[in-house]
Amino acid sequence: MSPQEPDSRLAGLVRRYGHGSRVPGWDTAADLGKDPAVVPDPATVEVPDELRAGIEEFMARYPDRRSAAIPALMLAQRSHGWCSPLAIEQAAAVMRLTPGYLSAVATFYDMFETEPKGEHTVYVCTNISCSLRGADALYQAMLDAAGDDPRFNVRSFECLGACDIAPMASVNGEYVGPLDEADCGRIVDDLIAGRPVLEGKRLRDRPSAIDLPMGDGLPTTGRDMATGPTASGNDVSGPKDM
Ligand code: FES
Repeated sequence: MSPQEPDSRLAGLVRRYGHGSRVPGWDTAADLGKDPAVVPDPATVEVPDELRAGIEEFMARYPDRRSAAIPALMLAQRSHGWCSPLAIEQAAAVMRLTPGYLSAVATFYDMFETEPKGEHTVYVCTNISCSLRGADALYQAMLDAAGDDPRFNVRSFECLGACDIAPMASVNGEYVGPLDEADCGRIVDDLIAGRPVLEGKRLRDRPSAIDLPMGDGLPTTGRDMATGPTASGNDVSGPKDM
């Protein structure tokens, strides 16, 4: 079996790239014929005031300004809609780094978009916990629901760190789950209408131990957590739709 043919029952269902990953583009070759990059001249690069102030504020938090590369890129992406060459050049000018340094960061992390994208980002997690709960069909349903509408940027994603609500997705940064295929059309409708997405299925809507009032009757064991209402009436059993 070649590395291009992972031994998986899902191999025919989920697109994989040559290296076996579901993440497109990471193996795009660097252009070694380019001239070495230089730090942009701050006097010749115009940077929006808000972007400059935000990047400088992050730089001030770290002893080494390069530690602010990720938040600086997030701000640049927010300002331009994606990590365009101009966005990276502006961030590099403020940070006194080469654009290449920031490009290396932007192309490494999945949540930086290095191509123009639709305004609404939907990341459908297709990693193991979500796959076991139907994420591959969910991803296809989400692609179908968005169709070829350029406003939507639908991507599969590796574990988004919310396996407890699998299968799940991040919609413009809002975590929602557990999802079923019928939710995909509602996600599209909510986004187009400008409504909060999938109210009731957002991670933020779920009860959290941190939010529980202190007092008698609070659960002290996992068994308590699983058995629901406590003597004091606090319902700690979680949502009923799981
Ligand atoms: S596997 Fe989907 S959130 Fe972890």
